[in-house]
Order: sequence, then structure tokens, then C-alpha cells
Amino acid sequence: MYSRIIGTGGYLPEKILTNQDLESMVDTSDEWIQTRTGIKQRHIAAPDQTTSDLALIASQNAIKAANISVSDIDLVIVATTTPDMIFPSTACILQNKLGIAGNSPAFDIQAVCSGFIYALATADMFVSSGKARNALIVGSEVCSRILDWNDRTTCVLFGDGAGAVVLTQSDTPGILSSHLHADGSYSQILAAPASIQSGKMEGTPFITMEGGTVFKFAVRVLEEAVLEALNSNHLQPADVDWLVPHQANIRIIASTAKKLGIPQEKVVATVAQHGNTSAASVPLALDQAVSDGRIQPGQNVVLEGVGGGFTWGSILLRW
Ligand code: ACO
Repeated sequence: MYSRIIGTGGYLPEKILTNQDLESMVDTSDEWIQTRTGIKQRHIAAPDQTTSDLALIASQNAIKAANISVSDIDLVIVATTTPDMIFPSTACILQNKLGIAGNSPAFDIQAVCSGFIYALATADMFVSSGKARNALIVGSEVCSRILDWNDRTTCVLFGDGAGAVVLTQSDTPGILSSHLHADGSYSQILAAPASIQSGKMEGTPFITMEGGTVFKFAVRVLEEAVLEALNSNHLQPADVDWLVPHQANIRIIASTAKKLGIPQEKVVATVAQHGNTSAASVPLALDQAVSDGRIQPGQNVVLEGVGGGFTWGSILLRW
């Protein structure tokens, strides 16, 4: 038995923050941001919008696209770095908002920008082993809440949003293979290193990052992760119809594709409009390419992601 994505959905908050808007907030320029990152704008959640609110709309869109009833969902996984609260999990909150409280297991996965890859790989194990029939997998983030809006080296990079997929049992693939990695010795180069001590927050909850180190690490491991997925299925880069990468930076995306020999026309890029939405970036990009008809049945699609931890991974699927 295999698992197959039968519906995708996305949601982006209404408010758009452009690079020009940022010019009046920190010492930066549209030209610097676009040249270094490819980002033109990002969406920002309203003050009263939570990660589960964004997840709810993306989930409803995915469930509608899958043409199933919400009561058919028997597993809920949310990948997020910006949960609504310490606990309960955002997945439990989402399950309740969907009106299916008690119908399924529900849990969060925390792998930062690789979160959706980790969550989809986990759901695949449930679905392909028969432990779940219709899994809802969501990447949802309000990155804007953990940004220091006075720090130009980080605040220009991120945005808010949610993407979701429904994964169901299938006699044919579907997901061909998934490959997950982590190296905790790199935990310091990208972190939001706050902790709670005796009811008080210690350290900063804002994203801190060694940009150059992250850049080099990302390009290296993403190439390896995509090759790992291709090699384990006896495929070549030329067999890839669509590469759907984590949307951190257009230069990371372009360097990875170039090293692999995958032409830019086969790469789905949303970073210009969305910025880096962490765990939401891959499902949002996937949803866009499915909705606009670029991704077609029978095509080979590679998803990849890298993020804090460090964590990284890839998933190869036949659409
Ligand atoms: N506007 C204007 N100038 C800036 C800005 C800004 N927003 N941010 C930094 N600068 C300045 C720096 O202060 C520095 O000035 P200096 O030379 O006077 O000291 C100069 O620009 C160059 O800074 P660098 O950090 O060397 O610039 P770089 O070319 O490395 O680009 C960037 C920085 C865009 C962060 C890049 O390193 C990068 O993309 N790294 C990957 C990080 C990433 O994508 N993180 C996302 C999370 S991780 C993930 O999702 C994989």
C-alpha cells in the first residue's frame, strides 16, 4: 500500500508588507533585499490571527480540493515553529476548530523550516502502513511574532502563511521515498533561543542567525538530499519534472538547482511573494503549482527542506 496526495490548500494573511514598507522601518533597501534574497514582499498575520487560524483555512481548502468530508480525516499533523501556545499542540487546537475533535490522533512536529517534510514523511508511514486512511498535514507559521523588527539582518527574510495537503491510501504511488536528517551540533547557527525558567522567559525569543553559515550549509545538504531521493529510486536529475524547494532565498534555490543540473523552469519559486514562511513554504509552493496546473498526473516531484536544528530532508513523489 502507498500514500498519495489528493488535495492541496493554502492561505496567506491579507496584509502585505513590501520591501518599500521595510525601508521605513529599518536601515535597508528594496534593492538589497531583492538582490540578496529574491524577496519582494511577505504576508503578515493580523494581531488576532494565530497559527491554528491560518492552518484552519489552508486545511479547509485542501479538504475541499481532495473532495472528501472533513469527518474522513483520521490523522492531523501540524508542522510549526510558532505554535499557538506551549500546549496543547496546534494540531489539537486545529482538530477542534475543524469540528472533528476526538476523531483522530493529532500532534505537532517541530523541525523548523523542514517541518513539512518531516510531517509528510511521518504521515506517509501512518498511511502506507494502514494506520490512517486520510491524513491532514499542515505547515503553518506566524514567523512575524518571533522576529526582532529592529534587526534588519533577519526581519526582512520571513513571512506568515499556511499550506496543507490531504494524504490518502492508494494502490499506486504517491510518495516513493522520504529522507530525513538532523545534526544538532549546528543548533546555534539558527535559533530562537528563549527558554522558560521558573515562569520567566530567559534569552531572546527572536530568530538569531549566522546568515552566511546557514547559506552554505543549506546549499550543501539540499543537493545531497535531492540526490539521495533520486538515487534511491534509480532516477537522474533529468527525470525530475518539478523541484518544490523550501523557499528561504532565491540564491539558495538557484544554487541547489544549478548544482543538480535541474533547469530553473522546473523549479517552483514563491519566495518573491511569500518570503520565508518556514514550515509553510513547501506546501504553499506545492499548492500554487498544483492549482495553476503546472504539476500534472504522472510527473516526478521532489520536495526538499532545510531548517534550524539543523534539520533537512527530501521527499520524492509521483503526482
Ligand atoms: N539591508 C541592508 N543591509 C543589510 C541587511 C539588510 N536587510 N542585512 C544585512 N545587511 C548588511 C550587513 O550588515 C553587511 O554589512 P557590512 O558589510 O557593512 O557588515 C552586508 O549587508 C552584508 O551582509 P552579509 O550577511 O554578508 O550578506 P549576505 O550576502 O550573506 O546575505 C543573507 C545575507 C541574505 C541573510 C544570506 O546570508 C542568506 O540568505 N543566508 C541564508 C539565511 C536564510 O535563508 N535563513 C532563513 C532561515 S534558514 C532556512 O530557512 C534554511
